[in-house]
Amino acid sequence: MLTTYRHIRIGVPLDSQDGSGKMRGPHEPERVGKTMAEVIAQIMKQSMVTTGVNTGVDTEVNTRIQTMESRNTQKPMRMIHFSRLMLTGIFCALPTFAMGFDYLQTLPAKPPVPLNNPMTASKSALGKQLFFDRSLLGTNSLLSCNSCHNLKQGGDDNKALSLGQGGQKTLRSAPSLWNIGFQTVLYWDGRSTSLEAQTLDHLRNPTISTWPNIGELVQALGKSSHYRQAFSKAFPADKESFFGISGENIARAITSFERTLQASNSAFDQYIAGDESAISASAKRGIQAFNDAGCLACHFGANFAGPAPGPALKMGDGFYELFPNNLGSSYDQQYHLLVDLGRFAYTGDPTERYMWRVPPLRNIAVTAPYFHNGAVASLEEAIRVMGKTQFNKQLSDKNVNDIAAFLHSLTGEMPDKILR
Ligand code: HEC
Ligand code: HEC
Repeated sequence: MLTTYRHIRIGVPLDSQDGSGKMRGPHEPERVGKTMAEVIAQIMKQSMVTTGVNTGVDTEVNTRIQTMESRNTQKPMRMIHFSRLMLTGIFCALPTFAMGFDYLQTLPAKPPVPLNNPMTASKSALGKQLFFDRSLLGTNSLLSCNSCHNLKQGGDDNKALSLGQGGQKTLRSAPSLWNIGFQTVLYWDGRSTSLEAQTLDHLRNPTISTWPNIGELVQALGKSSHYRQAFSKAFPADKESFFGISGENIARAITSFERTLQASNSAFDQYIAGDESAISASAKRGIQAFNDAGCLACHFGANFAGPAPGPALKMGDGFYELFPNNLGSSYDQQYHLLVDLGRFAYTGDPTERYMWRVPPLRNIAVTAPYFHNGAVASLEEAIRVMGKTQFNKQLSDKNVNDIAAFLHSLTGEMPDKILR
């Protein structure tokens, strides 16, 4: 199924051609003769002026935009080494059809699947059992994956930090796993480059699992005749080797299940697909305000987290930005935004201080509290914080409420058959 596009008249309309030169979607757009590159360049200019970023950068962005436009189909870029809003300026300047995504789009029908882990029903069924099974995380574990990523509660635990094994707290807030298949990198700082690697990383983390090593977990699962059968069925080619039970196959099964976690058909998706009445007037104004404020420069695409794995960003390449972009607002102290150094803590690269993965915004209304430390309780406050920290803008209450209404419309259906 093709993703459906819709042209929303916001300030200047978003350009969304599919490369065939024809406009798609049920509504013909109102053309005012501006390309997406111009729209974003305009947003960039405004935000640079308001954030007080050296306006010398401005010319540089424009030059880069022109260079990008002239090359048209660019090789995917790694996003890590640019800072401030420049990178989104450059990035968004690329024609969307060349990049294989659109800024506002419905959730694609299926996430990309790696060649070495094709989806099968028996594998994702096994992954689902492991996901809900406490014995995956230790002999007497009180936790399963679902404890911190509760699929009935939006895919997280609605806590600032989670309580791990033996009462240890996690360092960051547990993200939602709904639509996780559309992320190119995992964790708040993007330090994990595939879902498979991320699962193994979790299983080695003593806050998550009390097994001394993955070998012991494998041995324990091998004692269950149920799991021996289930692994042999899910991994027939490996079944001669300990029934196919291995760390890699545990990760393959769990991630296959994770790739089925799609919360589609949100009110926003229905609206984008053409149902004018699917979202409120306030949410429609919210889309406009979201664009006008400049939020869309970072939060766009399938998950509103930048490009999903595809031509624009390969799996393992991250889309990162500074947070806070504008240092020195009272929120820095109030919400402890400067305590955690973001990617710097992992890479040691001083240019990556306070650099974070741009996080998804789908289902955001049901995944409070907000930010990597879970310090902000309400969605409205998170929106205000973003306006101030990213643009040094005090958003009006009306804008905040409208953007919140739009973000509420991003809550998708979380199908019961996946849950239990
Ligand atoms: C004790 C709580 C806890 C448990 C149990 C737990 N997780 Fe997590 N999980 C977290 C936290 C916290 C993070 C974010 C860590 C970070 O960004 O540094 C996370 C991140 C993730 C991510 C990346 C999400 C993203 O947006 O990038 C995935 C996927 C994930 N966990 C899957 C699982 C699976 C599968 C299990 C079971 C094997 C599991 N988790 C068990 C707390 C938990
Ligand atoms: C320059 C890029 C950028 C811009 C522009 C931007 N954001 Fe963000 N946004 C981020 C990053 C990075 C984070 C992750 C912050 C963290 O690590 O806690 C984030 C986090 C968020 C969160 C919390 C997500 C969560 O899971 O807790 C919300 C809500 C949000 N942004 C909304 C907005 C809104 C609304 C705007 C416009 C007013 C906006 N953002 C503008 C980059 C951006």
